[in-house]
Amino acid sequence: MLAVEMKNIYKSFGPVKANQDVNFELEQGEIHALLGENGAGKTTLMRILYGLYKADSGEIFIDGEKVAIHSPKEAIAAGVGMVTQHFTLVPPLTVAENVVLGYTNGIVLSQKEIEKNVAAASEKYGVQVNPSALVKDLSVGERQRVEILKALYRNARILIMDEPTAVLVPQEVDVLFEALNRLVKSGLSVIFISHKLVEVMAVCDRITVLRDGKVANTVKKTETSQVELAKMMVGRETFGVRLQDACATSDPIYELSGITLDGKHEKKILEDVSFCVGTGEILGIAGVSGNGQGELTEVLTGLVPPSKGSIKLEGKDITHLSPGQISEAGVGRTPQDRHQGTIGELTVAENLALEHIKDYTNKGLLDRKKIREDAATIIKEFQIKASPGDQLRKLSGGNMQKVVLARALSRKPKVLIASQPTRGLDVGATEYVRKRLLDERAHGTAVILLSEDLDEVLALSDRIAVIYEGRIMGVVPSAEATPEKIGLLMAGAVE
Ligand SMILES: Nc1ncnc2c1ncn2[C@@H]1O[C@H](COP(=O)(O)OP(=O)(O)OP(=O)(O)O)[C@@H](O)[C@H]1O
Ligand SMILES: [Mg+2]
Repeated sequence: MLAVEMKNIYKSFGPVKANQDVNFELEQGEIHALLGENGAGKTTLMRILYGLYKADSGEIFIDGEKVAIHSPKEAIAAGVGMVTQHFTLVPPLTVAENVVLGYTNGIVLSQKEIEKNVAAASEKYGVQVNPSALVKDLSVGERQRVEILKALYRNARILIMDEPTAVLVPQEVDVLFEALNRLVKSGLSVIFISHKLVEVMAVCDRITVLRDGKVANTVKKTETSQVELAKMMVGRETFGVRLQDACATSDPIYELSGITLDGKHEKKILEDVSFCVGTGEILGIAGVSGNGQGELTEVLTGLVPPSKGSIKLEGKDITHLSPGQISEAGVGRTPQDRHQGTIGELTVAENLALEHIKDYTNKGLLDRKKIREDAATIIKEFQIKASPGDQLRKLSGGNMQKVVLARALSRKPKVLIASQPTRGLDVGATEYVRKRLLDERAHGTAVILLSEDLDEVLALSDRIAVIYEGRIMGVVPSAEATPEKIGLLMAGAVE
């Protein structure tokens, strides 16, 4: 029997036809993915099922019976639960209180009884939570489990999850998938919305693709592929990303090969990352937060040693040098966190000299005059709103970021590692930093730009490498890069 059947659903918002003649079937005990580009109508369809929107027309059947759902309350009564990205939990209350909240049938329970009930439910459904913990102390993954348990506690037999993995780190995704696989075995049916094709292929039984508000197709996982799904989503025969060899650069001076970083669990944080950067080239590294960009930066700057692989600068192995030695060798960096590598209590001048104190030491004495003079020059050149003697921590975020950038660039590095260089900066400062990166490129510096801002990567890079779950999915020359192509790679789609 079908758990859910939605027939000929129509829903418009003014001129926008969010759902047009949508037919959707969820079998009992299956995990069914809803896939589609932004704005395809996925959330709308699920909000209709959960009673948050009223369809303009169409019918809904649950367990074969026609229903009219006008509110989430009625949806819950019909056995439908929904977990969204925007959690509806009350942070100051305990897990147990949140689970039970609004579902006590008028019976007043003691704190102890509530916790006992929730512990029993946690055990029964195999969804791990700590009943007495306060929700405000929980991680995102833990909060999500509370939301799931809350739905199950209300006897949900159909669970809607709208992009549940978007907010999770990879380990939490594994835990979620394990829980879902267990739950469907005991009869739960799940609708799973995601943009990540790899996940969809990993966890779902069937997939319905929506395009422009209409169903493009419903397919079995075993009878499709990531490439086919991507084609259904964008509605074109091919989306042909011509992937380049990661070392296709004219004058490579910086070369990464086979860099691997083991994680705490079996999963690798970085796996076999290889690429080259040439003089006067910006290599952008795009990726969704949490896919290894941060760790890659730490390996490149010598803060974390890789488990395997090598890094070469002008043919010389620099893999196991210290951060200071790497910088000496000609690799400049703007750290992803501007508080890393600076000392707030010291002055601007001292911070600028910090990594090159050797250059300012003469017969064991620190040449404070030269530190100040050099700082004044740099401050002027980089238009930093501060004096050499100001304490760094008193500077605005944008000016602090300029200090970090100036320190890296004033050493005339051969390679610059720019990690999230404009995060948190205002429009003016952002423009300034981007212009400086392009200037560096013009002067022959090889720049590695790691940024979560896809527009920034597209605007500045000569070539774009996409990192997904610690692996480089491919390198695309900027002339052929579109947000759509890069976006598909960022979601893990490979040809
Ligand atoms: N409450 C609303 N008012 C007006 N327009 C809406 C409303 N909800 C959705 N829409 C529009 O309906 C269309 C479908 O939106 P929907 O949120 O269902 O897309 P989606 O497939 O979930 O996309 P995404 O992957 O970005 O979450 C979009 O054009 C959206 O702007
Ligand atoms: Mg949506």
